[in-house]
Amino acid sequence: MTTAADFLPLDTGLPSLRASADHCRGCALHEHATQTVFGQGRADAELMLVGEQPGNVEDRRGTPFVGPAGQLLDQALDDAGIRRGDVYLTNVVKHFKWRPGRQGMRLHATPNTTEVLSCLPWLKAEIETVRPRVLVCLGRTAARALIHPSLSLAQYRGTLFTSQLVPHLMPTLHPAAVLRAPPALRESAFADLVHDLATAADTLTQDQDLP
Ligand code: URA
Ligand code: SF4
Repeated sequence: MTTAADFLPLDTGLPSLRASADHCRGCALHEHATQTVFGQGRADAELMLVGEQPGNVEDRRGTPFVGPAGQLLDQALDDAGIRRGDVYLTNVVKHFKWRPGRQGMRLHATPNTTEVLSCLPWLKAEIETVRPRVLVCLGRTAARALIHPSLSLAQYRGTLFTSQLVPHLMPTLHPAAVLRAPPALRESAFADLVHDLATAADTLTQDQDLP
């Protein structure tokens, strides 16, 4: 089976990874998307945030988290005292998967396990190159790809895990899930996201105090 691994460059610096990912044909998702949306941010970021896949706006602009969910994330980061410029932001899947809606709308479609596994070599290469100390999984797709394949967000949101790839990983809500929450629950969902992001930032500082 073809996967992103067939397109990985020998030089695994971020510019080289990004250039190679532009031409990835590791699964069929590139056929209906505008462009590859690679990660963005500091090459030496201590905090990495991983979403699911680019959305409609990200697909057009080529940058992760710049649409409505990205704007909500920006506000949550701000409230948690984290500067967006200090983190590395990326997605599990690098091409937008969508289905046609009314009036030419492109509706989000969840990537399946094969697509996630096909694309994972890019994310692993980003993690190995940036080497963050803390990684926050925004939503279930990222949490299941990086922490455990059947992880329940309801049960483990805000919990710190460890893995061979990253010393600390935490699953939290996806900003799009906060946007979609019923009005009565939206405020507390947003507060949960901010709380988890602040915990992730605290973990960085506490780690620094170790000898
Ligand atoms: N949702 C994601 O998971 N990632 C993006 O980049 C935008 C929306
Ligand atoms: Fe390659 Fe990932 Fe795009 Fe599939 S979604 S073509 S694996 S970059």
